[in-house]
Amino acid sequence: MIATAVQKRALSQEVLSELNNLIPQEKKEHYNYQDLESLVQVLSGESHLVGYKQEQVPIDQERYQWLKTRIVSLPGVRSVLEIGGNLGYICLRLVQELGLRATCLEPIEDYVRISTLLSEGFGLDHLYQSRCAFVLWDNIAELPEADVLINLNVIHHAGRVFDCEVVARLGGWAAYAQSYLEKLASKGRYLFFQTGNTWPSARLFENTEAPEFLAGILARSGWRVIDIGICDRLPELTLSSYPLSEMARIPRIWCQRNTTTDLVDYYHESRLLASFPTGLAQRPLFFCESMR
Ligand SMILES: C[S@@+](CC[C@H](N)C(=O)[O-])C[C@H]1O[C@@H](n2cnc3c(N)ncnc32)[C@H](O)[C@@H]1O
Repeated sequence: MIATAVQKRALSQEVLSELNNLIPQEKKEHYNYQDLESLVQVLSGESHLVGYKQEQVPIDQERYQWLKTRIVSLPGVRSVLEIGGNLGYICLRLVQELGLRATCLEPIEDYVRISTLLSEGFGLDHLYQSRCAFVLWDNIAELPEADVLINLNVIHHAGRVFDCEVVARLGGWAAYAQSYLEKLASKGRYLFFQTGNTWPSARLFENTEAPEFLAGILARSGWRVIDIGICDRLPELTLSSYPLSEMARIPRIWCQRNTTTDLVDYYHESRLLASFPTGLAQRPLFFCESMR
């Protein structure tokens, strides 16, 4: 790492009230996903009253530290490109704490406005840019290059929300994911990748087979998996790391929605470990290097 951190700055009352005005009151898909309140707190160093409630499993801080630890160990990293960056939780922190130049692509316009406001309010806008964009199989070639790419929990929506025709044409989601990741392999040297497995018809792959299934797709698309992060001490939301060579040691946690509680129950074999609003805490997080 060669870049340097940007000094923390207090959040002005004007920016705070503008932020609260920008937070959408209606809830659509992917809304209230990231932890906006803790993002504002870490960026400012103080807590503030933000009119927003995260509805996802609260693992942003843990995932962020996992990514940051790996990025700081890489030589010569200056830039990051995130696809589906949502409220910019990861990019804004990487800019402030590591001085990286970040481009965050996100189709929810309100969220682009919010992360742009935060970047301005915290004096990060010389390094941070959020753009309202749908990244599709067809336009990956036009993306800017960056040292580090981040693609977390986006591509299991392909075939349902976007790229439906391409998924069918390529012969299904696994072939699509391989081709999509192959295109990304020429856009950056390192990749952080995470995906779900839910689809309208059937699961894309079994939870317990996720490490091998996804590591196989990554390898075939030109990415060497360095290590895999897993929440293997549930209900504690901490990530453990497994190098690719030790993938077989990863505890096989599976989950399913409980129709009575409407929560997702997490199991190891038949033992109930935890219940959360979604299955996010079961998804492996991959850190990879491009073999191109
Ligand atoms: C499930 S959320 C994950 C958010 C974030 N990556 C994370 O893991 O915390 C998926 C995000 O990807 C965005 N998204 C959906 N389709 C996209 C596309 N085709 N290109 C870029 N972003 C997309 C959504 O708006 C949303 O912010």
